Amino acid sequence: MADTDGLKVAKNYHVNEPFANQDGFYVKGANSLDWGMKKHLSNIFDPKSGNTVMFAFDHGYFMGSTAGLERLDLLLPTLAPYVDVFMGTRGAIRSCVPPQITKGIALRVSSGSSMLNEDLSHEVVAVDIEDCIRMNADCMAVQTFIGADGQLESLDNLSKVINAGMRYSIPTLGVVAVGKQMERTDRFFKLATRIVAEMGVQLVKTYNCENFEEIVAACPVPIVVAGGKKLPEKDALNLAYTVMAKGAHGVDMGRNIFQSNHPIEMAQAIRKIVHEGYTDTQAYEFYQDMISDHAKE
Ligand code: 5RP
Repeated sequence: MADTDGLKVAKNYHVNEPFANQDGFYVKGANSLDWGMKKHLSNIFDPKSGNTVMFAFDHGYFMGSTAGLERLDLLLPTLAPYVDVFMGTRGAIRSCVPPQITKGIALRVSSGSSMLNEDLSHEVVAVDIEDCIRMNADCMAVQTFIGADGQLESLDNLSKVINAGMRYSIPTLGVVAVGKQMERTDRFFKLATRIVAEMGVQLVKTYNCENFEEIVAACPVPIVVAGGKKLPEKDALNLAYTVMAKGAHGVDMGRNIFQSNHPIEMAQAIRKIVHEGYTDTQAYEFYQDMISDHAKE
């Protein structure tokens, strides 16, 4: 057991200093990667804003049919113009995303639990690298359960996927899971995001929390933020604005888009924040204007 007694508290995050090793390529921490990796990352992070709007619809991998995602075949083509990346399972993407839609693809590759389990932290790598290549995945998403029962196997899954990704230049997205029993403190997210980044992922998905800017500063690769449970639209836009203002490089939102009464307008409003620097207030006004224009049509 490592001697953790008397550890100094980390505090020098230099949150106002930009990431240092950034010459030559715009994606954080990706300077030394090869062309193929950079190409995939450019399919995820817009080269102009440096940010991304990812649309997460992978919930079915453990939740089955989810409110708002009943008909992926109808929903996905309508949202495509307003998001940068589709994040889903290979089953959903192959069956419901027309291949002529030129969006980035974040392929969920870990799986193995369901809502019926008490403990969701035990997963396997369910998609092999050859299928990720066949699907032109721009990144492979692996759930990591730091501090949970399934920590070791999820980090084993993660390292296997990163190793395969390094062989074929496909980035890995480390998804920081939060469970019922797991804390949602900045201490937890600092630990989890940094462990996942040090394992070698090229991007991290996590949640907003107190001192979020410190989590971003201490993470050497870009962070995208999950939306979590459905919030009123104004609050979801506030979440997007807050994390972007604190250094996130985008959002990977699901329920706050697909469970909105107006998913398309919501995706457009989020886009304004992520790519055009709108405040949450401006984006909410934009959202309301879009809805009322729609109602007049
Ligand atoms: C599950 C995921 C989901 O994609 C994630 O939760 C995003 O969706 P939402 O915004 O609905 O939370 O990664 O682990």
